[in-house]
Amino acid sequence: MFDIEKKEIKEELQGKPTVLAQTGEGLGKKVFIESYGCQMNFSDSEIVASIMHENGYRTTANIYETDVIFINTCAIRENAEQRVRQRLKEFKSLKKHKPNLVVGVLGCMAERLKEKFLEEEKLVDIVVGPDAYRSLPDLVSQVEDGQKAVNVLLSLEETYADINPVRLGGNGISAFISIMRGCDNMCSFCVVPFTRGRERSRNPETIVQEAKELYEAGYREVTLLGQNVDSYLWFGGGPKKEFKNLSEEEKKNSVNFAQLISRVASISKDLRIRYTTSNPRDMTDEVLEVMAAYPNICRYIHLPVQSGNTAVLERMNRGYSREEYMDRIHAIKKYLPDCAISTDIITGFCGETEEEHADTISLMKEVGFDYAYMFKYSERPNTLAQRKYKDDVPDEVKGRRLQEVIELQTQLSLESNKRDIGKIFEVLVEGPSKKNEAEYYGRNSQNKVIVFPKENVKPGNYVSVRVNDCTSATLIGEIVR
Ligand code: SAH
Ligand code: F3S
Repeated sequence: MFDIEKKEIKEELQGKPTVLAQTGEGLGKKVFIESYGCQMNFSDSEIVASIMHENGYRTTANIYETDVIFINTCAIRENAEQRVRQRLKEFKSLKKHKPNLVVGVLGCMAERLKEKFLEEEKLVDIVVGPDAYRSLPDLVSQVEDGQKAVNVLLSLEETYADINPVRLGGNGISAFISIMRGCDNMCSFCVVPFTRGRERSRNPETIVQEAKELYEAGYREVTLLGQNVDSYLWFGGGPKKEFKNLSEEEKKNSVNFAQLISRVASISKDLRIRYTTSNPRDMTDEVLEVMAAYPNICRYIHLPVQSGNTAVLERMNRGYSREEYMDRIHAIKKYLPDCAISTDIITGFCGETEEEHADTISLMKEVGFDYAYMFKYSERPNTLAQRKYKDDVPDEVKGRRLQEVIELQTQLSLESNKRDIGKIFEVLVEGPSKKNEAEYYGRNSQNKVIVFPKENVKPGNYVSVRVNDCTSATLIGEIVR
Protein backbone atom coordinates (compact mmCIF):
# COMPACT_ATOMS: atom_id res chain seq x y z
CA MET A 1 0.00 0.00 0.00
CA PHE A 2 2.79 2.40 -0.69
CA ASP A 3 0.78 5.28 -1.88
CA ILE A 4 -2.52 3.92 -0.67
CA GLU A 5 -1.17 3.90 2.86
CA LYS A 6 0.69 7.11 2.28
CA LYS A 7 -2.26 8.61 0.51
CA GLU A 8 -4.51 7.60 3.34
CA ILE A 9 -2.14 9.08 5.85
CA LYS A 10 -1.73 12.16 3.72
CA GLU A 11 -5.48 12.49 3.22
CA GLU A 12 -5.98 11.93 6.87
CA LEU A 13 -3.48 14.62 7.59
CA GLN A 14 -4.60 16.99 4.87
CA GLY A 15 -8.29 16.40 4.81
CA LYS A 16 -9.96 13.94 7.07
CA PRO A 17 -9.37 14.75 10.68
CA THR A 18 -7.10 12.79 12.92
CA VAL A 19 -8.74 12.26 16.27
CA LEU A 20 -6.50 11.52 19.18
CA ALA A 21 -7.36 8.48 21.21
CA GLN A 22 -8.47 8.41 24.79
CA THR A 23 -5.82 8.47 27.49
CA GLY A 24 -5.51 8.83 31.23
CA GLU A 25 -7.63 7.85 34.16
CA GLY A 26 -9.77 9.76 36.60
CA LEU A 27 -12.71 12.05 36.59
CA GLY A 28 -11.11 15.22 35.24
CA LYS A 29 -12.62 17.23 32.45
CA LYS A 30 -12.24 15.95 28.93
CA VAL A 31 -10.79 17.46 25.80
CA PHE A 32 -11.36 16.25 22.24
CA ILE A 33 -8.69 17.26 19.72
CA GLU A 34 -9.10 17.02 15.96
CA SER A 35 -6.16 17.82 13.66
CA TYR A 36 -6.01 18.91 10.03
CA GLY A 37 -3.06 19.71 7.81
CA CYS A 38 0.62 18.88 8.04
CA GLN A 39 2.58 16.61 10.35
CA MET A 40 3.64 19.68 12.30
CA ASN A 41 0.01 20.28 13.24
CA PHE A 42 -0.36 16.69 14.32
CA SER A 43 2.74 17.05 16.46
CA ASP A 44 1.42 20.34 17.88
CA SER A 45 -1.79 18.59 18.92
CA GLU A 46 0.33 16.25 21.03
CA ILE A 47 1.87 19.29 22.71
CA VAL A 48 -1.60 20.72 23.32
CA ALA A 49 -2.71 17.40 24.82
CA SER A 50 0.29 17.50 27.13
CA ILE A 51 -0.48 21.07 28.27
CA MET A 52 -4.10 20.10 28.96
CA HIS A 53 -3.06 16.92 30.82
CA GLU A 54 -0.83 18.99 33.09
CA ASN A 55 -3.92 20.99 33.92
CA GLY A 56 -6.09 18.05 34.89
CA TYR A 57 -7.78 17.27 31.59
CA ARG A 58 -7.79 13.94 29.87
CA THR A 59 -8.19 13.40 26.14
CA THR A 60 -11.19 11.64 24.72
CA ALA A 61 -12.04 10.28 21.28
CA ASN A 62 -15.77 10.59 22.04
CA ILE A 63 -17.10 13.94 20.95
CA TYR A 64 -20.39 13.41 22.82
CA GLU A 65 -18.78 13.14 26.25
CA THR A 66 -16.25 15.94 25.92
CA ASP A 67 -16.17 19.30 27.74
CA VAL A 68 -13.79 21.01 25.33
CA ILE A 69 -13.28 20.60 21.57
CA PHE A 70 -10.09 21.85 19.95
CA ILE A 71 -9.82 21.83 16.19
CA ASN A 72 -6.24 22.27 15.00
CA THR A 73 -6.57 23.86 11.59
CA CYS A 74 -4.68 24.22 8.32
CA ALA A 75 -4.68 27.27 6.03
CA ILE A 76 -2.36 26.03 3.29
CA ARG A 77 -5.06 25.74 0.59
CA GLU A 78 -8.58 27.05 0.40
CA ASN A 79 -10.23 23.63 0.48
CA ALA A 80 -8.50 22.84 3.80
CA GLU A 81 -10.17 25.92 5.26
CA GLN A 82 -13.57 25.03 3.81
CA ARG A 83 -13.51 21.62 5.48
CA VAL A 84 -12.80 23.20 8.84
CA ARG A 85 -15.64 25.70 8.47
CA GLN A 86 -18.03 22.86 7.75
CA ARG A 87 -16.83 21.05 10.84
CA LEU A 88 -17.25 24.14 13.01
CA LYS A 89 -20.88 24.37 11.94
CA GLU A 90 -21.35 20.79 13.11
CA PHE A 91 -19.80 21.67 16.47
CA LYS A 92 -22.13 24.63 16.73
CA SER A 93 -25.15 22.38 16.47
CA LEU A 94 -23.62 20.12 19.14
CA LYS A 95 -23.43 23.17 21.38
CA LYS A 96 -27.21 23.57 21.17
CA HIS A 97 -27.56 20.34 23.12
CA LYS A 98 -24.65 21.08 25.43
CA PRO A 99 -24.44 24.83 26.13
CA ASN A 100 -21.32 24.55 28.32
CA LEU A 101 -19.29 22.90 25.59
CA VAL A 102 -16.21 25.02 24.82
CA VAL A 103 -15.03 25.08 21.18
CA GLY A 104 -11.57 26.35 20.27
CA VAL A 105 -9.88 26.92 16.93
CA LEU A 106 -6.12 26.31 17.01
CA GLY A 107 -3.38 26.52 14.41
CA CYS A 108 -2.95 28.32 11.13
CA MET A 109 -6.57 29.37 10.48
CA ALA A 110 -6.73 30.86 13.96
CA GLU A 111 -3.86 33.09 13.07
CA ARG A 112 -5.51 34.10 9.81
CA LEU A 113 -9.14 34.49 10.76
CA LYS A 114 -9.33 35.45 14.40
CA GLU A 115 -11.85 38.30 14.24
CA LYS A 116 -14.02 36.55 11.73
CA PHE A 117 -14.47 33.44 13.85
CA LEU A 118 -15.22 35.26 17.06
CA GLU A 119 -17.16 38.28 15.94
CA GLU A 120 -18.84 37.75 12.59
CA GLU A 121 -19.63 34.09 12.68
CA LYS A 122 -19.80 33.44 16.41
CA LEU A 123 -18.75 29.87 15.69
CA VAL A 124 -16.22 29.46 18.45
CA ASP A 125 -15.26 30.53 21.98
CA ILE A 126 -11.48 30.37 21.74
CA VAL A 127 -9.01 31.28 19.01
CA VAL A 128 -5.36 30.38 19.63
CA GLY A 129 -2.41 30.59 17.26
CA PRO A 130 0.46 28.07 17.04
CA ASP A 131 2.76 29.92 19.46
CA ALA A 132 0.22 30.45 22.26
CA TYR A 133 -0.74 26.94 23.33
CA ARG A 134 0.63 27.38 26.84
CA SER A 135 -2.21 29.83 27.47
CA LEU A 136 -4.94 27.31 26.57
CA PRO A 137 -5.94 26.24 30.12
CA ASP A 138 -6.29 29.88 31.20
CA LEU A 139 -8.28 30.71 28.12
CA VAL A 140 -10.66 27.81 28.75
CA SER A 141 -11.25 29.12 32.30
CA GLN A 142 -11.86 32.56 30.88
CA VAL A 143 -14.57 31.15 28.60
CA GLU A 144 -16.11 29.28 31.50
CA ASP A 145 -16.37 32.69 33.19
CA GLY A 146 -18.39 33.92 30.25
CA GLN A 147 -15.78 35.65 28.10
CA LYS A 148 -14.44 34.99 24.63
CA ALA A 149 -10.73 34.23 24.59
CA VAL A 150 -8.07 34.95 22.00
CA ASN A 151 -4.31 34.64 21.86
CA VAL A 152 -2.76 34.69 18.44
CA LEU A 153 0.53 36.32 19.37
CA LEU A 154 3.42 34.90 17.41
CA SER A 155 6.65 34.42 19.28
CA LEU A 156 10.32 34.81 18.40
CA GLU A 157 11.37 32.21 20.99
CA GLU A 158 8.64 29.65 21.69
CA THR A 159 9.66 26.09 20.71
CA TYR A 160 7.80 24.17 23.47
CA ALA A 161 11.22 22.63 24.13
CA ASP A 162 10.39 21.56 27.69
CA ILE A 163 7.02 20.01 26.90
CA ASN A 164 6.89 16.26 26.63
CA PRO A 165 4.22 15.56 24.00
CA VAL A 166 1.51 13.04 24.87
CA ARG A 167 1.68 10.39 22.13
CA LEU A 168 -1.93 9.74 21.30
CA GLY A 169 -2.63 8.96 17.71
CA GLY A 170 0.31 6.75 16.82
CA ASN A 171 1.27 3.10 16.68
CA GLY A 172 3.84 3.15 19.51
CA ILE A 173 6.61 2.51 16.98
CA SER A 174 7.01 5.77 15.10
CA ALA A 175 6.78 9.34 16.48
CA PHE A 176 7.27 12.92 15.37
CA ILE A 177 9.68 15.31 17.07
CA SER A 178 9.40 18.98 16.27
CA ILE A 179 12.88 20.52 15.92
CA MET A 180 12.03 24.04 14.80
CA ARG A 181 9.06 26.33 14.26
CA GLY A 182 8.02 28.94 11.71
CA CYS A 183 9.59 29.66 8.35
CA ASP A 184 11.55 32.64 6.99
CA ASN A 185 11.60 31.56 3.37
CA MET A 186 8.67 33.51 1.97
CA CYS A 187 7.86 31.30 -1.00
CA SER A 188 5.41 33.56 -2.79
CA PHE A 189 2.49 31.07 -2.77
CA CYS A 190 2.78 30.09 0.87
CA VAL A 191 0.82 31.26 3.88
CA VAL A 192 3.00 29.49 6.47
CA PRO A 193 5.40 32.39 7.22
CA PHE A 194 2.32 34.46 8.10
CA THR A 195 0.51 31.85 10.16
CA ARG A 196 3.49 30.32 11.95
CA GLY A 197 5.81 33.28 12.21
CA ARG A 198 9.58 33.59 12.28
CA GLU A 199 11.85 30.60 12.04
CA ARG A 200 13.48 29.46 15.28
CA SER A 201 15.32 26.28 16.24
CA ARG A 202 14.79 24.15 19.31
CA ASN A 203 17.52 23.33 21.83
CA PRO A 204 19.24 20.13 20.57
CA GLU A 205 19.68 18.71 24.09
CA THR A 206 15.89 18.56 24.46
CA ILE A 207 15.51 16.98 21.03
CA VAL A 208 18.05 14.23 21.80
CA GLN A 209 16.45 13.69 25.22
CA GLU A 210 13.00 13.32 23.68
CA ALA A 211 14.32 10.82 21.11
CA LYS A 212 16.08 8.81 23.86
CA GLU A 213 12.93 8.63 25.94
CA LEU A 214 10.95 7.46 22.92
CA TYR A 215 13.54 4.77 22.22
CA GLU A 216 13.42 3.60 25.83
CA ALA A 217 9.61 3.48 25.62
CA GLY A 218 9.86 1.06 22.67
CA TYR A 219 9.68 3.47 19.74
CA ARG A 220 11.92 2.52 16.83
CA GLU A 221 11.54 5.48 14.48
CA VAL A 222 11.51 9.25 14.94
CA THR A 223 10.74 11.84 12.29
CA LEU A 224 12.31 15.23 12.91
CA LEU A 225 9.93 17.95 11.79
CA GLY A 226 10.45 21.47 10.53
CA GLN A 227 9.25 23.58 7.61
CA ASN A 228 12.85 23.83 6.41
CA VAL A 229 15.03 21.42 8.38
CA ASP A 230 18.25 22.18 6.50
CA SER A 231 18.33 25.66 7.95
CA TYR A 232 18.12 24.32 11.54
CA LEU A 233 20.75 26.16 13.59
CA TRP A 234 20.92 26.26 17.36
CA PHE A 235 23.02 29.06 18.82
CA GLY A 236 21.27 29.63 22.13
CA GLY A 237 17.70 30.40 21.03
CA GLY A 238 15.71 33.16 19.37
CA PRO A 239 14.92 33.99 15.75
CA LYS A 240 16.99 32.47 12.97
CA LYS A 241 20.44 33.86 12.18
CA GLU A 242 22.87 32.81 9.46
CA PHE A 243 25.97 30.99 10.73
CA LYS A 244 28.20 33.74 9.34
CA ASN A 245 26.40 36.31 11.49
CA LEU A 246 26.97 34.46 14.77
CA SER A 247 29.48 35.72 17.33
CA GLU A 248 32.62 33.61 17.85
CA GLU A 249 31.15 32.33 21.11
CA GLU A 250 27.83 31.43 19.43
CA LYS A 251 29.66 29.72 16.56
CA LYS A 252 31.64 27.57 18.97
CA ASN A 253 28.50 26.23 20.68
CA SER A 254 26.27 26.11 17.62
CA VAL A 255 24.63 22.95 16.30
CA ASN A 256 23.52 22.67 12.67
CA PHE A 257 21.18 20.12 11.09
CA ALA A 258 23.97 17.72 10.07
CA GLN A 259 25.30 17.72 13.63
CA LEU A 260 21.80 17.32 15.05
CA ILE A 261 20.95 14.22 12.99
CA SER A 262 24.30 12.68 13.82
CA ARG A 263 23.56 13.12 17.54
CA VAL A 264 20.07 11.66 17.27
CA ALA A 265 21.32 8.78 15.11
CA SER A 266 23.96 7.93 17.74
CA ILE A 267 21.29 7.08 20.35
CA SER A 268 20.97 3.53 19.01
CA LYS A 269 21.52 1.82 15.70
CA ASP A 270 18.03 0.34 16.19
CA LEU A 271 16.40 3.76 16.15
CA ARG A 272 15.53 4.92 12.67
CA ILE A 273 15.79 8.62 11.91
CA ARG A 274 13.68 10.36 9.30
CA TYR A 275 13.21 14.05 8.72
CA THR A 276 11.03 16.41 6.75
CA THR A 277 11.04 18.85 5.03
CA SER A 278 14.24 19.62 3.14
CA ASN A 279 14.56 22.70 1.03
CA PRO A 280 16.65 22.52 -2.15
CA ARG A 281 18.10 25.96 -1.51
CA ASP A 282 19.52 24.97 1.88
CA MET A 283 20.37 21.27 1.56
CA THR A 284 24.09 20.79 2.15
CA ASP A 285 26.48 17.99 1.18
CA GLU A 286 27.39 17.83 4.87
CA VAL A 287 23.90 16.47 5.65
CA LEU A 288 24.25 13.85 2.89
CA GLU A 289 27.67 12.81 4.23
CA VAL A 290 26.23 12.31 7.72
CA MET A 291 23.36 10.30 6.26
CA ALA A 292 25.83 8.09 4.40
CA ALA A 293 27.74 7.49 7.65
CA TYR A 294 24.68 6.29 9.61
CA PRO A 295 22.71 3.37 8.13
CA ASN A 296 19.88 4.13 10.61
CA ILE A 297 19.24 7.54 9.01
CA CYS A 298 16.69 6.49 6.44
CA ARG A 299 17.45 6.52 2.74
CA TYR A 300 14.57 8.80 1.90
CA ILE A 301 14.52 12.52 1.18
CA HIS A 302 11.44 14.63 0.55
CA LEU A 303 12.71 17.48 -1.61
CA PRO A 304 9.83 19.69 -2.82
CA VAL A 305 10.51 21.07 -6.30
CA GLN A 306 7.11 22.81 -6.92
CA SER A 307 7.92 23.40 -10.63
CA GLY A 308 10.45 22.24 -13.22
CA ASN A 309 10.73 25.67 -14.84
CA THR A 310 13.21 28.28 -13.65
CA ALA A 311 11.02 31.30 -14.46
CA VAL A 312 8.13 29.80 -12.45
CA LEU A 313 10.52 29.00 -9.60
CA GLU A 314 11.61 32.63 -9.65
CA ARG A 315 8.00 33.84 -9.44
CA MET A 316 7.53 31.39 -6.59
CA ASN A 317 10.58 32.93 -4.86
CA ARG A 318 11.97 29.46 -4.22
CA GLY A 319 15.61 30.56 -4.39
CA TYR A 320 16.85 27.89 -6.83
CA SER A 321 16.74 27.21 -10.57
CA ARG A 322 15.91 23.93 -12.28
CA GLU A 323 19.66 23.31 -12.70
CA GLU A 324 20.35 23.96 -9.01
CA TYR A 325 17.55 21.55 -8.07
CA MET A 326 19.08 18.91 -10.36
CA ASP A 327 22.47 19.54 -8.77
CA ARG A 328 20.96 18.57 -5.39
CA ILE A 329 19.43 15.44 -6.94
CA HIS A 330 22.83 14.43 -8.34
CA ALA A 331 24.44 15.05 -4.95
CA ILE A 332 21.85 12.78 -3.27
CA LYS A 333 22.47 10.05 -5.84
CA LYS A 334 26.25 10.39 -5.40
CA TYR A 335 26.29 10.11 -1.58
CA LEU A 336 23.26 7.82 -1.21
CA PRO A 337 22.81 5.67 -4.33
CA ASP A 338 19.91 3.76 -2.77
CA CYS A 339 18.02 6.86 -1.55
CA ALA A 340 14.35 7.30 -2.48
CA ILE A 341 13.28 10.83 -3.39
CA SER A 342 9.81 12.34 -3.21
CA THR A 343 8.59 15.82 -4.00
CA ASP A 344 5.77 18.37 -3.91
CA ILE A 345 4.41 19.86 -7.13
CA ILE A 346 2.04 22.77 -7.69
CA THR A 347 0.22 23.03 -11.05
CA GLY A 348 -1.19 26.23 -12.51
CA PHE A 349 0.78 28.78 -10.52
CA CYS A 350 0.32 32.41 -11.63
CA GLY A 351 1.26 32.88 -15.28
CA GLU A 352 2.24 29.22 -15.84
CA THR A 353 2.30 28.53 -19.61
CA GLU A 354 1.96 25.15 -21.33
CA GLU A 355 5.72 25.19 -21.98
CA GLU A 356 6.46 25.89 -18.32
CA HIS A 357 4.12 23.05 -17.31
CA ALA A 358 5.91 20.77 -19.82
CA ASP A 359 9.15 21.53 -17.96
CA THR A 360 7.61 20.15 -14.77
CA ILE A 361 6.69 16.97 -16.64
CA SER A 362 10.20 16.64 -18.07
CA LEU A 363 11.82 17.24 -14.69
CA MET A 364 9.67 14.55 -13.11
CA LYS A 365 10.86 12.09 -15.76
CA GLU A 366 14.47 13.21 -15.43
CA VAL A 367 14.50 12.68 -11.65
CA GLY A 368 12.16 9.66 -11.65
CA PHE A 369 10.57 10.55 -8.32
CA ASP A 370 9.54 7.59 -6.20
CA TYR A 371 6.56 9.49 -4.85
CA ALA A 372 4.97 12.95 -5.08
CA TYR A 373 2.36 15.11 -3.38
CA MET A 374 0.62 17.13 -6.06
CA PHE A 375 -1.61 20.18 -5.73
CA LYS A 376 -3.49 22.76 -7.79
CA TYR A 377 -2.37 26.28 -6.99
CA SER A 378 -4.72 27.92 -4.50
CA GLU A 379 -4.30 31.64 -3.95
CA ARG A 380 -3.84 32.59 -0.29
CA PRO A 381 -4.65 36.05 1.05
CA ASN A 382 -1.72 38.39 1.80
CA THR A 383 0.94 36.13 0.31
CA LEU A 384 3.53 37.66 -2.03
CA ALA A 385 1.91 35.94 -5.02
CA GLN A 386 -1.51 37.32 -4.16
CA ARG A 387 -0.11 40.84 -3.98
CA LYS A 388 2.19 40.63 -6.99
CA TYR A 389 0.70 38.23 -9.56
CA LYS A 390 -2.64 37.38 -11.10
CA ASP A 391 -4.11 33.95 -10.37
CA ASP A 392 -4.73 33.71 -14.10
CA VAL A 393 -4.59 30.01 -14.96
CA PRO A 394 -8.22 28.84 -15.33
CA ASP A 395 -9.31 26.19 -12.87
CA GLU A 396 -9.93 23.58 -15.63
CA VAL A 397 -6.38 24.10 -16.88
CA LYS A 398 -4.92 23.75 -13.37
CA GLY A 399 -6.99 20.58 -12.98
CA ARG A 400 -5.95 19.12 -16.33
CA ARG A 401 -2.28 19.79 -15.61
CA LEU A 402 -2.67 18.26 -12.16
CA GLN A 403 -4.20 15.16 -13.75
CA GLU A 404 -1.24 14.85 -16.14
CA VAL A 405 1.20 15.16 -13.29
CA ILE A 406 -0.68 12.56 -11.20
CA GLU A 407 -0.84 10.09 -14.09
CA LEU A 408 2.87 10.43 -14.77
CA GLN A 409 3.71 10.02 -11.09
CA THR A 410 1.58 6.85 -10.83
CA GLN A 411 3.63 5.41 -13.69
CA LEU A 412 6.94 6.54 -12.13
CA SER A 413 5.95 5.04 -8.76
CA LEU A 414 5.06 1.75 -10.45
CA GLU A 415 8.42 1.68 -12.27
CA SER A 416 10.23 2.47 -9.03
CA ASN A 417 8.39 -0.35 -7.25
CA LYS A 418 9.03 -2.82 -10.07
CA ARG A 419 12.76 -2.17 -9.74
CA ASP A 420 12.49 -3.45 -6.17
CA ILE A 421 11.09 -6.87 -7.12
CA GLY A 422 13.60 -9.53 -6.06
CA LYS A 423 15.37 -7.23 -3.57
CA ILE A 424 15.54 -7.92 0.16
CA PHE A 425 14.89 -5.00 2.52
CA GLU A 426 15.14 -4.49 6.25
CA VAL A 427 11.59 -3.58 7.27
CA LEU A 428 10.38 -2.08 10.53
CA VAL A 429 7.09 -3.83 11.36
CA GLU A 430 4.46 -1.20 12.15
CA GLY A 431 1.21 -3.13 12.56
CA PRO A 432 -1.46 -5.30 10.94
CA SER A 433 -2.27 -4.50 7.33
CA LYS A 434 -5.59 -2.72 7.01
CA LYS A 435 -6.68 -4.95 4.15
CA ASN A 436 -5.65 -8.36 5.38
CA GLU A 437 -5.57 -9.48 9.03
CA ALA A 438 -3.06 -12.22 8.22
CA GLU A 439 -0.51 -9.65 7.05
CA TYR A 440 1.63 -6.97 8.62
CA TYR A 441 2.70 -3.75 7.02
CA GLY A 442 5.96 -1.95 7.59
CA ARG A 443 8.37 0.33 5.79
CA ASN A 444 11.80 -0.05 4.34
CA SER A 445 14.44 2.63 4.76
CA GLN A 446 13.21 4.22 1.51
CA ASN A 447 9.82 4.80 3.16
CA LYS A 448 8.03 2.35 0.89
CA VAL A 449 5.23 0.41 2.50
CA ILE A 450 5.62 -3.39 2.27
CA VAL A 451 2.96 -5.94 3.21
CA PHE A 452 3.90 -9.53 4.08
CA PRO A 453 2.44 -12.59 5.88
CA LYS A 454 2.72 -12.17 9.66
CA GLU A 455 4.75 -15.18 10.80
CA ASN A 456 6.30 -15.03 14.21
CA VAL A 457 7.20 -11.33 14.50
CA LYS A 458 5.79 -8.30 16.30
CA PRO A 459 5.33 -4.60 15.61
CA GLY A 460 8.62 -2.87 16.47
CA ASN A 461 10.74 -5.77 15.15
CA TYR A 462 13.09 -5.42 12.21
CA VAL A 463 12.66 -8.18 9.64
CA SER A 464 14.20 -9.02 6.27
CA VAL A 465 11.53 -9.03 3.59
CA ARG A 466 11.97 -10.11 -0.02
CA VAL A 467 9.79 -8.27 -2.52
CA ASN A 468 7.91 -10.64 -4.82
CA ASP A 469 5.35 -8.34 -6.39
CA CYS A 470 4.04 -4.78 -6.34
CA THR A 471 1.40 -2.29 -7.35
CA SER A 472 2.11 1.40 -8.00
CA ALA A 473 1.22 1.86 -4.35
CA THR A 474 2.68 -1.07 -2.42
CA LEU A 475 5.44 -3.64 -2.31
CA ILE A 476 4.29 -7.19 -1.59
CA GLY A 477 6.73 -9.63 -0.04
CA GLU A 478 7.59 -12.32 2.45
CA ILE A 479 9.91 -12.63 5.41
CA VAL A 480 13.21 -14.35 4.65
CA ARG A 481 15.59 -15.71 7.28
N1 SAH B 1 8.20 23.59 3.86
C1 SAH B 1 6.92 23.05 4.07
C2 SAH B 1 5.94 23.32 3.04
C3 SAH B 1 4.60 23.32 3.65
S1 SAH B 1 3.35 23.38 2.56
C4 SAH B 1 6.95 21.59 4.44
O1 SAH B 1 7.34 21.29 5.51
O2 SAH B 1 6.55 20.73 3.65
C5 SAH B 1 3.40 21.78 1.79
C6 SAH B 1 3.20 21.87 0.32
O3 SAH B 1 1.94 22.44 0.03
C7 SAH B 1 4.18 22.78 -0.40
O4 SAH B 1 5.41 22.17 -0.64
C8 SAH B 1 3.45 23.10 -1.67
O5 SAH B 1 3.67 22.14 -2.67
C9 SAH B 1 1.98 23.04 -1.25
N2 SAH B 1 1.41 24.39 -1.15
C10 SAH B 1 1.77 25.38 -0.31
N3 SAH B 1 1.04 26.50 -0.55
C11 SAH B 1 0.20 26.19 -1.57
C12 SAH B 1 -0.79 26.92 -2.30
N4 SAH B 1 -1.04 28.19 -2.02
N5 SAH B 1 -1.46 26.27 -3.29
C13 SAH B 1 -1.19 24.98 -3.58
N6 SAH B 1 -0.27 24.25 -2.94
C14 SAH B 1 0.43 24.85 -1.96
FE1 F3S C 1 6.11 27.63 2.84
FE2 F3S C 1 8.30 27.82 1.42
FE3 F3S C 1 8.42 27.90 4.06
S1 F3S C 1 6.63 26.39 1.06
S2 F3S C 1 6.69 26.69 4.73
S3 F3S C 1 7.49 29.41 2.76
S4 F3S C 1 9.85 26.83 2.68
